This record gives sequence, C-alpha cells and structure tokens, in this order.
Amino acid sequence: MDYLLGIDIGTSGTKTVLFDRDGKSIASAVGEYPLYQPQIGWAEQRPEDWWNAVCITSREVLKKSGAKPSDIKGVGLSGQMHGLVILDENNQVLRKSIIWCDQRTKAECVEITERVGAERLIEITANPALTGFTASKILWVRNNEPEIYSRIKRILLPKDYIRFMLTGEFATEVSDASGMQLLDIRNRCWSEEVLDKLDIPVEWLGKMYESCENTGVVTEEASRLTGMAAGTIVAGGAGDQAAGAVGNGIVKKGIISSTIGTSGVVFAHMDEVQIDKKGRVHTFCHAVPGCWHVMGVTQGAGLSLKWFRDNFCIEEMRTAELMEKDPYILMDEEASKVEAGSGGVIFLPYMMGERTPHLDPDAKGVFFGISAAHGKAHLLRAVLEGVVYSLRDCMEIIREMGIDASQVRASGGGGKSPLWRQMQADMFNTEICTINSSEGPALGAAILAGVASGIYENVVDACEDMISVRTRQEPDLRKKPVYDRFHLIYRNLYTKLKDEYKELTEALKEAR
Ligand code: XUL
Repeated sequence: MDYLLGIDIGTSGTKTVLFDRDGKSIASAVGEYPLYQPQIGWAEQRPEDWWNAVCITSREVLKKSGAKPSDIKGVGLSGQMHGLVILDENNQVLRKSIIWCDQRTKAECVEITERVGAERLIEITANPALTGFTASKILWVRNNEPEIYSRIKRILLPKDYIRFMLTGEFATEVSDASGMQLLDIRNRCWSEEVLDKLDIPVEWLGKMYESCENTGVVTEEASRLTGMAAGTIVAGGAGDQAAGAVGNGIVKKGIISSTIGTSGVVFAHMDEVQIDKKGRVHTFCHAVPGCWHVMGVTQGAGLSLKWFRDNFCIEEMRTAELMEKDPYILMDEEASKVEAGSGGVIFLPYMMGERTPHLDPDAKGVFFGISAAHGKAHLLRAVLEGVVYSLRDCMEIIREMGIDASQVRASGGGGKSPLWRQMQADMFNTEICTINSSEGPALGAAILAGVASGIYENVVDACEDMISVRTRQEPDLRKKPVYDRFHLIYRNLYTKLKDEYKELTEALKEAR
C-alpha cells in the first residue's frame, strides 16, 4: 500500500494527516500549543512545541491507521508562513519564533524601504515592506536584541525548522520563501541585492527548492522520535496558503479560493507574474513549478470568531460539550436568527492589525452601530459579516487586476460553516463551492510529496485526478443590496479611524 503524509504546522496546532494515493484521508491527529502575546500586537511561539506536536501526531496517525512506516512514500510539509526561527552554531533555537501576525516591526519596515528603495523592493520581492514578513523581524532582532543577533547562524521558516529536525537539511522552497521578503520573486531565488542592502548573509538561509522536489530524507534520530521510517522522502512542501491552494485544486486560472483559517485569504493562481503596484495584495511563487499566485490577506478572520467564542460564548461552549457538538455550529445557529446586516452593527476585524487592503499594523477591531436593541447574536453575526467584508476587499483588488474568478472554493475551518459560505456567495456575488476534501494544506503538502516521490507525474494532473466540487451555493440576490450598503459604511469607517488608530498606539506606549 502507498501512503503519503501531510503535516501542517498551523498557528493553533499541527495537523498531521495520512492519505492514500487517491487523496483519501486515512487517519489524522492534531497537536495544539500556546501562542504567546507578551505585548499588544506581538505574537510568538516555541519552535520546540511545533516539533513536539509533529512527533506526537505522526506517531498517533501511524497507530490509528495501522499503516507500516515503510508504506509512507513521502512526507510533505506545510506551515504558517513568515515566522522567524533563528538557530545558533549548535543548531539550538535562540529565541521564541516571532510569527506571521506579529506587528512589532514598523520601524524596521521603514528601514527596509529606505535601504532598498520603495519601488525596487516591490520590483524584486513583489511586495512593500510588511511588518508580518520575515525580513523586518530579522532586523528587529538586530536592532533590539543584538546579543542574540550576534549568535545567529541559521534562519528558517516554521515548516523548514521541522524539515531540519526531520532530515538535518537546511532547506526551503519558493512558495514559503516568497513571504520572507528576501526572494527575487520573478527568478525564484534569493535576491543578492536585497540581502546585500539589508546586510543579511546568504549562508544563513536555506537551500532553495521548488515545492515538489525532494529536499532530504528522515534521519535515524527523527525516525525514533516520529515513528516514520528512516530514509522516507521529505518534499519541499509549501507555505500554508500555497499548500492549501494545491489541496483545493487552485492550480490553474479561473478558480479562486477563499480560506478562513486564523487569517482569511483570497488566493488566485497566475501563469505569469503580475504585481499590484499599490502593494495591497501579495504576489508570491506558487507551489506549481513555473507559476505564481496572488493573495489578499485579512489578519483576523477565524481569529476574530475564536476571540468572540472564547470571551463571550462560554455557555455555548459548555452546551456544545454536553451535546458533543462543535460550539461553532451552535454559534452559527444563533447568528442565523439575525437578518443580513446584523441590524446595523458593523465589525472591523482588525484584531491583529491589517494587511489587505490597508497594510496598517496599528488598525484595531471595532464594533460600530451598537444600540440598546442589540444583543449578543447581533454582535456574533457582525463578526462573521465583518470578516467577509474584509475578504470582499481582497476579492475586489484581485478582480481589479483582471484576474478571472469564475469559481470560488471555500476552505479552512470557516469554510465548513454554510452560513459563512452563503455570506461569501452574497457579498462576492459568485457561486461558492466546496470540494471533496477539507484537508486543504495537509492534502496539498501530501500531493507535493507524491510528486517528489514519483507517485504522481505533476501537481496539476494529481489535482485533476483527486479534487472535485461537492457543494455549490448561489448568491441570494435579495441580500446583495443590503450587504453592498453596509460594506460601504464598513470601508469608510477605516478611513475615518486611521489617524485615531495611530493615536491609540502612541497612547498605549505612553501608558506602559
Ligand atoms: C499568509 C499568512 C497566513 C499565515 C498563517 O501570508 O500570513 O496565512 O501563513 O496562516
């Protein structure tokens, strides 16, 4: 029997899934870990926690499935992008990883723009300097923790740290490396110019691969810890968004995905590089060799709903536990009782700053329009709607770039909610589909491993064979005008609050 293992190093946990060669999930396991937020806008995790979760979940999946380790023909890695992992000369982790949603590097973004030049930076890396991206985090450590910086010998992304632990290889691949802001996106290699200007030694960075190439094999030591067979191929894999796109079949023009995980992402495939000159959406190398993708990212999508659940839905969580149900299902039922527009309550989901379309680390969440007539269900629905207003902003820029979006596939934890999917259909004014698998990034990573190990010829054919549409939801034309009207107010709110956000950041600094 041939199996493939997909491992996704997420923000809330690591998900490891064993697939057969038809992409059918045989067994899966999730290992959770904490997120540290030592200051407002900061976000860190321990790379050791990720590795521990990989060891535990791999063993669990093998046990549950009864599969022989030697039947696993390849391992594919996917993971949260942009996180900074730094190692010393003994390959020990030097500090907690500063992860994708951390917003502390405003000053370093100014520094990067000055050193490289605003236009040149977009020309090479296809993006303006971003607080979330890895380059600004490297500079932050240099500027704020010089002692730690002086001991750096290696820089890795989250899933590439796991690759190192599995194989002993320092390597990365083009899709995830695109989010470091050190890559020449057109030529799919490290940019000597950017590295020189930022004074970062290229020796610190991993060897570059395409996502479906073999990057090394599982060592004896890793075999002992994970239960995988020594010698198993580890493929390049991909950043979670590109891996999720492969797992959703977003490997050709015309099909777009809208993913609600911790972040929310609208993702489109491109055969040629196309860059939004205003830098509102990211252009990155795709996990399909020779192709690129564009994506708009809202920082706080599932994160906003999880925040609402954890702080205001304790009762629903208890009931759900008794009913052995997912609390989000009960929350959906509550939100469905409120009409579209949430009775005029509008939520801005900028709980961890924002990227698309505002690129503003100071932005914060807002409930607007609350009156004494509103209750919890209005706020809850407003959170769901606010996230989709933000995804609509992403979608509109992608459409403005002339990219065809004839079919939108919903995915991520949020894609499981029929109510959230219907909101997307209504607000994007397109059909929203789901596919025959909900494993997204883990499936994408496994497909890439299948190509690396020779089970599949190439990524596109593998997706054609395995992925098909399962459900379709059409826009409800009666709701469109309601949402259009509220979306306009939503948009204007950011413009009106922009300066106040900055003021609030300053006030918070002084209050500390
Ligand atoms: C993509 C991004 C997030 C993270 C976490 O640019 O920042 O999707 O990868 O999921």
